[in-house]
Amino acid sequence: MCGIVGYLGEKGATQTVLNSLKRLEYRGYDSSGISCFLNGEIITEKRAGKISVLESAMDKDVMNGATVAIGHTRWATHGEPSDFNAHPHLDCTGSLAVIHNGIVENYSDLKKILEKEGHKFRSETDTESVVHLIEHYHREDDILDAVIKALDHVEGTYGLVAFSVKSPHRLVAARKGSPLVLGVGDGEMILASDASAIVEHTRDVLYLEDGEVVDLTQNEYKLYDLNKNHIQRSLESIDWDLDAIGKHGYDHFMLKEIFEQPETLSNAFRGRLLLDDVDVRLDGLEFLNSEIEKINRIIFVGCGTSWHAGLVAEYLMEEYAGIPVEVEYASEFRYRNPILKKNDLVITISQSGETADTLAALREAKSQGVRVVGITNVVGSTIARESDGGVYLHAGPEIGVASTKAFTSQITVALLIALMFARRRSVKFDEGKSILENLLSLPKAVNSVLSQCEKIKQIAEIYSENHNFLYLGRGINYPVALEGALKLKEISYIHAEGYPAAEMKHGPIALIDEQMPVVFIATRDEIYNKVVSNMEEVRARKGKIIAIATEGDEEIQNYADHVIYIPDIHRSLVPILAAIPLQLLAYHIAVLRKCDVDQPRNLAKSVTVE
Ligand code: AGP
Repeated sequence: MCGIVGYLGEKGATQTVLNSLKRLEYRGYDSSGISCFLNGEIITEKRAGKISVLESAMDKDVMNGATVAIGHTRWATHGEPSDFNAHPHLDCTGSLAVIHNGIVENYSDLKKILEKEGHKFRSETDTESVVHLIEHYHREDDILDAVIKALDHVEGTYGLVAFSVKSPHRLVAARKGSPLVLGVGDGEMILASDASAIVEHTRDVLYLEDGEVVDLTQNEYKLYDLNKNHIQRSLESIDWDLDAIGKHGYDHFMLKEIFEQPETLSNAFRGRLLLDDVDVRLDGLEFLNSEIEKINRIIFVGCGTSWHAGLVAEYLMEEYAGIPVEVEYASEFRYRNPILKKNDLVITISQSGETADTLAALREAKSQGVRVVGITNVVGSTIARESDGGVYLHAGPEIGVASTKAFTSQITVALLIALMFARRRSVKFDEGKSILENLLSLPKAVNSVLSQCEKIKQIAEIYSENHNFLYLGRGINYPVALEGALKLKEISYIHAEGYPAAEMKHGPIALIDEQMPVVFIATRDEIYNKVVSNMEEVRARKGKIIAIATEGDEEIQNYADHVIYIPDIHRSLVPILAAIPLQLLAYHIAVLRKCDVDQPRNLAKSVTVE
């Protein structure tokens, strides 16, 4: 939820941390801060607001000489966004600094004990209890031992980094539940919540596992478990470059990511289609081969957009593989004692691979002995590593908080899995060839949707001041309606609801008047006529209709105020094409309303707290 960075090296520690924080700002952006070690003391600057506010407040002339620094960009959980509550937090004497991403669940108990011992708290954060706890042990112990001993009392999650004036050329970091990656450079070490803050410095990384602590100097790292047993693990290599995380001339990351979709979708199926055999090859699922025939039920779990992708996946899996599917909010799954059986398969869907709720669901499934497959984008993420196997999206870093390219790639990958399962079960698979051929033409079809960006902007101009929107779709397009509504509300702050079109008459129809734009996904399929009837019902009540329709469907213009056409494609791929105009509509409306598209208020890209 927050972004953390630590740096040891000669390249200007403070500026390096500041630059890296900017890369992590998507993780949280309500306040930020940096501490560095200079002239025998810890110097700290922290501010409410975005990193630019911190940057203006920093006395760089003073701070730039440091060779060790830590920094934090925050998404508030305990205590409002303020200068005081921003990290780093310091101990009573100002000689120990800590940054933390996660939640200390027992912080109020710890705080009471520590206050009784005379520790003075300055913030309302849960994190500060850990700082004083480390301070307590650090009176006698070395910083590494003090951190390990302190963490023994901490309930909750953490990715944290600490340093102290007693050993100022060391950083000690630990992880439980919140991601932490170490970049090992030439004469420099950089720790961060994700690799995007590291890739500029080195491609050699170590992903910390839960329960691991790393002790760093500029030239050396030592990895331990929480009992201080030494751990040996080889470094991994980041296989994408800095270019992937730039804006490339686009005004916003979100727009860039929407326009990347022809390529990201190709990446999702490239090398995975076996056209002659009408089959799909997914190396990460090979381990399941002998079990696919026996799968009785699949449960997709995810949150937000990823949950919507799961709903599309439900249609695809049931239709092609003939396996009954349930789709669960990861946040609900774990807390309702899910009944899982031997031949169930859980498939988690997560762009970041770090979402705490999804990870908790994964662990719940594993604890019940059920196989778990992960559909993730971020390579080496916790969900990817903890799953029994999985499929990467290969969509490249998604920086915009509103998920776009990941959604369409998630659907593509879910379709590939459905096809793979269909081939390995004795189900009728007549459509396989046509689906694979249509997949190949998908990038071109996406380009044709993107070419309507200007037209969609004109529609956005008409409705950008409206206060409510309704999104309606049926069948496989119903989740697309949900996703369209989510995109609009999260970046434009307009209230929007997604509904199955036919459900409208059971309640939401009461909302319709001339002020209500209703977005229909009304593509040509077996329920097209029913959707048109629903459009008539809206028109009769003076609602304004924006229809996403199939190219060549002239008739639809009789029912809609605006029509955005998508190419005629195999019905399994329609949700992908239909989602894109909705992404663009939300984007343009948000820009017209002068909203912060890439960093909408109150949100964070990866939600690593429950
Ligand atoms: C999408 O636009 C959202 N920002 C959010 O719903 C997101 O999809 C959700 O938090 C799940 O994230 P994940 O895919 O990284 O697990």
